[in-house]
Amino acid sequence: MGKDVIIACDFNSAQKTLAFLDKFEGKKPFVKIGMELYYSEGPSIVREIKKRGHKIFLDLKLHDIPNTVKKAMAVLSRLDVDMTNLHAAGTKNMMKAAIEGLTREDGSRPILIAVTQLTSTDQESMESDLLIKEPIDEVVMHYASCAKDAGLDGVVCSPLEAGKVHERCGEAFVTVTPGVRFADGEVGDQKRVMTPAQAKAIGSDYIVVGRPITAADDPVAAYERCCKEFIG
Ligand code: C5P
Repeated sequence: MGKDVIIACDFNSAQKTLAFLDKFEGKKPFVKIGMELYYSEGPSIVREIKKRGHKIFLDLKLHDIPNTVKKAMAVLSRLDVDMTNLHAAGTKNMMKAAIEGLTREDGSRPILIAVTQLTSTDQESMESDLLIKEPIDEVVMHYASCAKDAGLDGVVCSPLEAGKVHERCGEAFVTVTPGVRFADGEVGDQKRVMTPAQAKAIGSDYIVVGRPITAADDPVAAYERCCKEFIG
């Protein structure tokens, strides 16, 4: 699996997103479209960014009954995204149904990764709200194993977990890691961060980088710095 830097385009309009991407001129970074942009602009923003030649990670974190997820995934597959995701908490049956829905007639499909436990969930809220009493690290690894068993390609995880996920699920199992910051940059609201070089050393396959690029004075230079540190 090729290593790449994915820019989290957390903007609330097509206009702001496209103006941001215009700055990259000849370059075509891998772009993450999340709920805010997708719910604001709909599938047309996916088509427009795709038409411009970017790869797209559509981060909508599906979680519903298997039949509904299968049908929704079929729609996303036709949108020609390159990567998408769901919640492993939806169970292996839901994940298997998602793969069926995503697979195109020619057998190809976007990369499908699972969210394990959100990083906003801690041990206390998992125990009190979800009634899951196991240590959160084990829950994350168990969900990763379930995703692998269901045939998914990988998981979203903190860069700090990427090494362990590879140990448990194999080197080919993809780790997509947010929470990346430059050594001399602002951390913001991210609690557990790594530099692109550290994420590379620990074995992340893709890093998802938002504000260190989108809020930089020179986003193109920040993106290039990320690529240099992460890909080399
Ligand atoms: O701006 P920043 O680099 O913090 O953006 C990180 C991106 O990754 C955001 O789109 C955020 O929603 C996403 N993300 C995250 N932590 C997770 C899962 C997703 O930061 N555990």
